[in-house]
Amino acid sequence: MTRWGSAVLERLPLAGDELVLDAGCGSGRVTEALLARLPTGRVIAADAAPSMLVEARRRLERFGDRVSFVECDLGRPLPLDTPVDAVFSTATFHWVADHQALFVNLAAVLRPGGWLVAQCGGAGNIASVRQVVADLGDPWPGPWTFATPEETVARMEAAGFVDVQAWLNDEPTWIEPGEPMETFLRTVMLRAHVDRLPEDRQSAFVHEVAERLPSPELDYVRLNMVARRG
Ligand SMILES: C[S@@+](CC[C@H](N)C(=O)[O-])C[C@H]1O[C@@H](n2cnc3c(N)ncnc32)[C@H](O)[C@@H]1O
Repeated sequence: MTRWGSAVLERLPLAGDELVLDAGCGSGRVTEALLARLPTGRVIAADAAPSMLVEARRRLERFGDRVSFVECDLGRPLPLDTPVDAVFSTATFHWVADHQALFVNLAAVLRPGGWLVAQCGGAGNIASVRQVVADLGDPWPGPWTFATPEETVARMEAAGFVDVQAWLNDEPTWIEPGEPMETFLRTVMLRAHVDRLPEDRQSAFVHEVAERLPSPELDYVRLNMVARRG
């Protein structure tokens, strides 16, 4: 994910002195690369999870007051005092249920003409894993919003973005079968599914999903977005 994030970062035009919002900074790995492109600029690192912000603070300590941290939900109006010059986000938007509200909230803090460059899971993402889960009798589609480019363009334009481009790309990703795959499913990909199960059924569920996967190459699909605030 960090590698994907770095590739997305290359799409963001920067002079080096801007104020940029990293929307969903996580542990700050990609934020670190963003700060490297802003020698005289600043970053607001925003995330909903206090534990992630603790880790990001630790990782980004050396940047001093060039980075500030905000705990917030991107699905709600953002508590920022000043407009930002750009919004950057990786691997986060699919966790926000209401994408229309998400883009309205981001547009509200972005200065006119400012760039939004982002990537998240898109339509068709991990379809094979979701099919296996459904085949096992869990009707829950998961906590994610995997949108199409068409839906995304319409939502972004309605929120006040212009020159909107949105597209999907496949990122098939091989995970080592066996214990590494099961750990990955349990702790990352299917964590929300596992958490909903009684403890004594969790390991069997993860094992069964791993056994039934058609391939250890997981069918990741990314939704890319580039736009400017109108
Ligand atoms: C997979 S991490 C991505 C971190 C980083 N951007 C990267 O690419 O490595 C997704 C992050 O989104 C955050 N997140 C999920 N839902 C959110 C929401 N509604 N508002 C803000 N952050 C959210 C999670 O806490 C997590 O840190």
